[in-house]
Amino acid sequence: MRMSTDHPAVTVVEARALHFRAGASHILRGVDLTVRRGEVVALLGANGSGKSTLVKSLVGINAPTQGEARLLGAPVGSGVDWSRVGYVPQRSGAGGGIPSTAQEVVASGLLHGRRLRLPRGWRERVAAALDQVGLGDRGGDPVHLLSGGQQQRILIARALVREPDLLILDEPVAGVDVASQEAFAATMRRLVDDGLTVLVVLHELGELEPLVTRAVVLGHGKVVHDGAPPRPREDHDRAGHRHQHPHADDNTLGEQARALDLEVRP
Ligand SMILES: Nc1ncnc2c1ncn2[C@@H]1O[C@H](COP(=O)(O)OP(=O)(O)OP(=O)(O)O)[C@@H](O)[C@H]1O
Ligand SMILES: [Mg+2]
Repeated sequence: MRMSTDHPAVTVVEARALHFRAGASHILRGVDLTVRRGEVVALLGANGSGKSTLVKSLVGINAPTQGEARLLGAPVGSGVDWSRVGYVPQRSGAGGGIPSTAQEVVASGLLHGRRLRLPRGWRERVAAALDQVGLGDRGGDPVHLLSGGQQQRILIARALVREPDLLILDEPVAGVDVASQEAFAATMRRLVDDGLTVLVVLHELGELEPLVTRAVVLGHGKVVHDGAPPRPREDHDRAGHRHQHPHADDNTLGEQARALDLEVRP
């Protein structure tokens, strides 16, 4: 059940001093992150800065070497009500090599934890989720025959079919055409208005820009900015404002902003 968004801020995602090490590489180096109910937080940063690693630690794929992560009030693990969490991994083949139809892949989003049977009414829910990503007529298609962008949209539908309270997306619109990005942004707008909380890894804010309430920028496994979303240069120029540089002594943030071709609002 979703609670109204005017309820006092409830922490939905919490990471405290999260470290992740693989061999000698320190990939996350003490990440603190809080996402409250109703927020749409964009997780930004250059390639290799640790965004996917962080997101995987939050959904329990990576066990952090130090620190704590909590989702929906419970430590990441079997105590989390995973039926309320939707996750879209970064660009992975939706079919996993097994010839499944789009409908089957989306329906797998209704299975979690101990739920090994599809719930009553699953066909309608799957059809609605496919409609939300503009693929309502492709349910019977084998996913491996869909285009890369269409497969990505199937993964989004697989996350949406749960009607989650929390959606964690790792570059959901990479490789998705502008029209489908717009449709995705419109779907997200409706869900967010209905109380959905979102943590989304992005390289550019793109069509989601109006929805994003806060940006967290990672640089070399650390949070280097947590606050107002960076504004794309193009928009800034269009608005006729002078280019504003990030604070002079914050070199890391400046580097991040340059790497992303973004600028940070004062
Ligand atoms: N299990 C692992 N073992 C070794 N190295 C890893 C492991 N997981 C991630 N890395 C390394 O950690 C760094 C961060 O990877 P990650 O996928 O989190 O980056 P990212 O910010 O998501 O980048 P991109 O924007 O390219 O998706 C990379 O250099 C990657 O090679
Ligand atoms: Mg990544």
